[in-house]
Amino acid sequence: MMMRTLRLAFLASHGGSNMQAIIDSIRSGLLDAVPVAVISNNSGSGAAERAARESIPFHHLSSATHPDPKALARAILDVLTETRADLVILAGYMKKLDPLVINSFRNRVLNIHPALLPKFGGEGMYGINVHKAVLAAGEQESGPTVHLVDEHFDRGRILAQRRVPVLPGDTPELLAARVLAEEHIIYADTIRRIGTGEIDLGFHFAD
Ligand code: GRF
Repeated sequence: MMMRTLRLAFLASHGGSNMQAIIDSIRSGLLDAVPVAVISNNSGSGAAERAARESIPFHHLSSATHPDPKALARAILDVLTETRADLVILAGYMKKLDPLVINSFRNRVLNIHPALLPKFGGEGMYGINVHKAVLAAGEQESGPTVHLVDEHFDRGRILAQRRVPVLPGDTPELLAARVLAEEHIIYADTIRRIGTGEIDLGFHFAD
């Protein structure tokens, strides 16, 4: 089956290293995709800088630019629609997406979580908190999960996971770095497998 080049819209709040890893995969020819937009609630974020460096159109959309949550959701949706995004890639996006966006892009919004869902997900489980919880629970392993986004935090369909060991003497920071290195591999690879049809989202991206 011939697949079209996937059009990716990113939502990122902070560093954007996952976004960068995906862009690098595109550049090296591993992933047939094109970044069409970077949306961030944070105009001073690393993601904003990366967008500028990569010449990807950047959109600062937040409660500062749109105090009314419905107007904000509409503005985000407008960018996604106008850029004809196929997939919405959450890459360290710290805001909850409005149901309007989720419904309009049902099964086409992806997130990466730095633990093996369904464990260590849900409200409050983000950033270093996740790795602290993994260590406190005495887990033997951890690793990133790529999943679809629905109305519930971290509960959508799991698309891919990679495992790393928890090592003696681990700190949350050491574990976070080990997991992040795997995030940078698995996110681009999952998008690639969606593009080839190996992962079926029930959606046809061909023209
Ligand atoms: C990653 O740990 C990811 O799992 C989580 O937020 C972090 C984003 O890092 N959702 P970055 O902004 O991609 O560098």
